[in-house]
Formats: sequence, C-alpha cells, structure tokens
Amino acid sequence: MQMLLCALAVIALSAQPIHEAPADAPSSGRVAPAGEPGERLTVSGVVVSADGSPVRGASLYVYQTDREGYYGVKPASDNRNPRLKTFLRSAADGSWSFETIRPGSYPNSRAPAHIHFVVAARGFAPRIFEIVFEGDPFVTADMRRNPAFSVRAIQSGRVTERIVLGAAPPEP
Ligand SMILES: [Fe+2]
Repeated sequence: MQMLLCALAVIALSAQPIHEAPADAPSSGRVAPAGEPGERLTVSGVVVSADGSPVRGASLYVYQTDREGYYGVKPASDNRNPRLKTFLRSAADGSWSFETIRPGSYPNSRAPAHIHFVVAARGFAPRIFEIVFEGDPFVTADMRRNPAFSVRAIQSGRVTERIVLGAAPPEP
C-alpha cells in the first residue's frame, strides 16, 4: 500500500509543471501589490540542503488567493493563472522573502487559507508544498503530518519557513 501511495505521489508531482524563476530573479519581492486589501504579511526563510548548508539560486514560485479565497478577480479563480504570485531566486546565504497579504479559504470550502510554494534547484529534488497558518480551524491533524503542508505561526505579521531540499533521484 505504501509503495502504491509513493508511486501516486510521484505521478502527482511529475504532473505538476515546475514553474521556474528567471535566472536573474531577485531574492526578495512582492506577491500582493501595495494596495491589495488584507492583513499584511512578510514571509521569509532559507533554502538549505539536507545537511543544512544554504542553497544559492534555488527557484521559488509562490502564489496564493486574495483575502476572499479567489485566485483571479472575483469570481474568477484559476489556480493555473493566479493574480497574486512572484518568482524568486534564493540569495547566496539561501535566503528569500516576500511581502503579501494573508490569503483566505476558498469560498464555501473547508480548505485552510494557504500559500503555494514550488521550489527547485539543480541537483535537488523539487519541493511542492503549501504554508497554512497556525490557528486556522481548517488545519487538520493529517495536514500536520503531511510534508505537502507546513503549519506556520504568524508572529507580528511575520511568517518564516525553512525549506529543506533532498538530493535529486539518480538518473535512470
Ligand atoms: Fe490553492
């Protein structure tokens, strides 16, 4: 059973395109424009390898809904074409950051509010996950155990995330 789940996870991962940041993308940026309604958030962190050393130049694609849970302009909500997004490359010390607003749950859903991350670097397996927020009533115990989710606290408008990349699987 576990093998089957692993295989399905690999298929799901490979089916999702890796949106790659331009080589000269900055390490800090803005997901939501300055006038975007919502609670302001600063999200920052590092990309490191399994041994804790910084990964420079990792590509980060970050996207989210607006505060009402829409990816587009309400009522449009296509997660393949989100309005609030940015592309970053981690700095020499692995660091990255962006300014945004706190997203909302999808309308009429029990999905927790979340920020999507697609992270890729040469020599490492890509990581696709979402930050969800401590205190959100829709965060489940299963999500806390699932590496596709990272449950993070918001402290004085700040959220931090340490992204650990595993080694790329060997070439077939
Ligand atoms: Fe989403």
